[in-house]
Amino acid sequence: MKIDFLSLIRKKRDGEGLTKKEIEFFIKGLINKKIPDYQIAAFLMAIYFQGLNFEEIVNLTLAMMKSGKIFKFKGKYVIDKHSTGGVGDKVSLILTPILAALGFKIPMIAGRALGHTGGTIDKLASIPNFRTDLTYQQCKEAIKNIGFFIAEQTEELVPADRYLYSLRDATSTIESIPLIATSIMSKKLAEGINFLLLDIKTGNGAFLEKFTEAKKFAKTIIKIGKLIKKKMSVFITDMNQPLGKAVGNSLEVIEAIEFLKGKQPRDLKEIVFTFGKEILLRTKFIKSKKRAEELINKVINEGRGLRKFQETIRTQGGEEAIIENYNILPKAKYQEYYFAPQKGYIFFINTKKIGFLCNFLGGGRTKREDEVDYSVGFIFIKKLGEKVKKGEPLLEIHANDKVKLKEVKEKLKEVILIKEKKPKLPPLIYWYGRT
Ligand code: URA
Repeated sequence: MKIDFLSLIRKKRDGEGLTKKEIEFFIKGLINKKIPDYQIAAFLMAIYFQGLNFEEIVNLTLAMMKSGKIFKFKGKYVIDKHSTGGVGDKVSLILTPILAALGFKIPMIAGRALGHTGGTIDKLASIPNFRTDLTYQQCKEAIKNIGFFIAEQTEELVPADRYLYSLRDATSTIESIPLIATSIMSKKLAEGINFLLLDIKTGNGAFLEKFTEAKKFAKTIIKIGKLIKKKMSVFITDMNQPLGKAVGNSLEVIEAIEFLKGKQPRDLKEIVFTFGKEILLRTKFIKSKKRAEELINKVINEGRGLRKFQETIRTQGGEEAIIENYNILPKAKYQEYYFAPQKGYIFFINTKKIGFLCNFLGGGRTKREDEVDYSVGFIFIKKLGEKVKKGEPLLEIHANDKVKLKEVKEKLKEVILIKEKKPKLPPLIYWYGRT
């Protein structure tokens, strides 16, 4: 029987399951531009409310993966790391050059910003001339020549995710376990990797705010990994405050470079080293945790991680001098402090609102076509649990618009709460699982 897309929207709206054929029909129609955006948007909203069963998730993942070209690389150490999305999460920019410097092949297909969260691709796009829309051939050459690339979804690379990703962003259908799972896994399977580390963020700045949701997501991902026999490590980590100090595209690139030069905020360091050690151990690159830590430190201290990052910038056409000269990066006109309105302890940070405030300054999109201002954002000076005096600077705001800057200062009063009582700090890592 002939399938028509309207009946699929209706089926999903009413909570019925879709067959493999129907899911493949959807992806084919999407790629061939046979289905209008308004119907895809309605379908996404139906999935958002009704969910997908495990079989549908697997079928959609595979159909999305097959929507473009699929990489095949030789060798044991072809890996990747991916995060479900957070605020100030620049771990990929730091960890992947370190691992590539050790000889790992990392074919990273990443995304732009989604909702209030930042995206690796937008961060890199803040580097003048840096190309993220690599062709399949250019990706293969980068792996051959320097072992590493970071590219966005294109018409050749997981085009189904490219399309759905931006539509989800514009239709408020991001926070859905099946849609996040299929988006991530389709990209990662197309990379032809043999090991994946997945960082699932939870907390007030994550898509999966509640731990129970994050755990459900982790179980789904592990079940997919087991089914397709993909070696994976899965972490659930904290997103109740930005990771590190910087939030905003070029500011995060600077923080990543500084990290590779040895300036390492505690929380960011713990995540980078935990993930790095896990990858070195699980791929059997090294046998002991202690040796793994020494090796990561050695790569950083010898400047090899930094040089690999520089090599990637050069390979992808970017201005490599940014490594030494941050003035080449987009820089905001105004840099002003937000001061503590009272004394006490930083008790609560509404991390999602921090992300949205960065977008409000121009650092993100509300429509697919929006231009991003790469220079804006925040540098946190104080983080959760730290003691502050009245009038002490809590963060630095980078803005290009005086009126918006003033508005942000006003809004921050409700976003960062200071109390007399010291808060109980959340753990950085909540849960770990593997296939
Ligand atoms: N990262 C992705 O690649 N996709 C999502 O949906 C969320 C985070």
